[in-house]
Amino acid sequence: MINWTEIDQFTKEWIKEAGKRIRQSLSEQLHISTKANPNDLVTNIDKDTERFFIERIRKTFPNHKILGEEGFGDELKSTEGVIWVIDPIDGTMNLVHMQRNFTISIGIFENGKGKLAYIYDVMNDELYHAMNGSGAFFNGKRLPKLLDKPLSECIIGLNSIWLTENRRIDHRMLTPLVKGARGTRSIGSAALEMGYIATGWMDVYISLRLSPWDFAAGMIIIEELGGKATKLTGEPLSILEKSSVFFAGPAVHEQILKQYLSEYVEK
Ligand code: IPD
Ligand code: CA
Ligand code: CA
Ligand code: CA
Repeated sequence: MINWTEIDQFTKEWIKEAGKRIRQSLSEQLHISTKANPNDLVTNIDKDTERFFIERIRKTFPNHKILGEEGFGDELKSTEGVIWVIDPIDGTMNLVHMQRNFTISIGIFENGKGKLAYIYDVMNDELYHAMNGSGAFFNGKRLPKLLDKPLSECIIGLNSIWLTENRRIDHRMLTPLVKGARGTRSIGSAALEMGYIATGWMDVYISLRLSPWDFAAGMIIIEELGGKATKLTGEPLSILEKSSVFFAGPAVHEQILKQYLSEYVEK
């Protein structure tokens, strides 16, 4: 039998320790490099933080598997067993430019089912977390289920890049949706934006392309709160693939799917 409470305690301890290290390293020289393109940044903090978690997980839970953005984990072929999906720093551009609004994001799955989730806002020392079947919490305080609001009262988390010409969607498709909402925000850490949905500060999150480590924790937390975490087609997300992502409370999720996304085809 897997002791999820034990895993939860270890993870929380490690997150606090990693957070402390990150805040300390911010006073030292950052080493910044680029990955796929000049705006795709990575720093020594991203890499050190991923290694920090992987070392501890391997020592404490040697038969668990790990998927991490910076590639120090395993190459996953299936969702079998216990899998940690880790984004050591979500919002690297914010870390580099603002030294705030970045998170550590960790989702833990058993045979593809979300069990534990953590989104840690490092500079504010704020933790969004969930345990499947036992609720979702902000700084240890239980969160209520997501409120059902009409789109006209919703704030959508959306990167404005998706409103410009791109290869994933006819960007004009999103114009009526943006106009139909109360407002949009782009915080720059997908995981943090999902945390904001959990607390009710924002209501919808949409991206045309995210990786499993961007949405793993958020998906578990939002579903624990009765919300929907799917692709833009309404189909389920998988931790084995990159895809579009659409998070919202159940009623507005259905409203948006029907009224604004019925023509959308996943590319
Ligand atoms: C990025 C952030 C950002 C989202 C990008 C992600 P990273 O993650 O979540 O908000 O718009 O698509 O890649 O690279 O900072 O971990
Ligand atoms: Ca990245
Ligand atoms: Ca990320
Ligand atoms: Ca990252």
